[in-house]
Amino acid sequence: MIEILGISGSLRKKSYNTMLLRAAMELAPQGMVIRPASIELPLYNDDVRERGYPPPVSLLRSQVAQADAVLIATPEYNFSIPGVLKNAIDWVSRPPEQPFNEKPVAIMGVSTGRFGTVRAQNHLRQSFLFMNAHVLNKPAVMVGDAAAQFDDGGHLTESSTREHVAKLLEALAESIERQKR
Ligand code: FNR
Repeated sequence: MIEILGISGSLRKKSYNTMLLRAAMELAPQGMVIRPASIELPLYNDDVRERGYPPPVSLLRSQVAQADAVLIATPEYNFSIPGVLKNAIDWVSRPPEQPFNEKPVAIMGVSTGRFGTVRAQNHLRQSFLFMNAHVLNKPAVMVGDAAAQFDDGGHLTESSTREHVAKLLEALAESIERQKR
């Protein structure tokens, strides 16, 4: 079984990105399971890190380390990565083991604007370069006009977006298999 850690970059209850992540959990191909992680963490502080990672940070670090890959659904805030998501990535990225090193990562995102998180995703890719994560290049899942994508129950109804997400997960599974070989 391929084990994927799912991270939504939004903390709000009715987050479109959390809905997109839930859709991915449903659409996971046979042999893949996606489990959501919490990024409700304290703000990064290197003094705290030196004393020891806080328990929710240690949990997230070990979840990333143990997962075969990480799937991120990111909002776009002010043309970039939301602070809560960047904060979580910053915590995970630190020594000793740097759990994102060589970790397969897939990125998707949904915004209420027209450009579907393209700028946030590009910034995320840039951050992952430093961590030497293996970020999947294609397909890009950048979903705009969020309100038109989901029904009142938060279910992803737009069929072309569902297909895109399914293709992303297939590509992720293939890249994990390739890396294992
Ligand atoms: C936004 N939003 C937004 N949208 C976008 O397409 N580009 C942007 O740069 C921004 N900037 C931005 C900044 C801040 C502080 C907020 C709160 C929002 C709108 C954003 O796409 C919308 O709020 C989404 O619904 C956020 O994702 P979740 O919380 O629904 O997952």
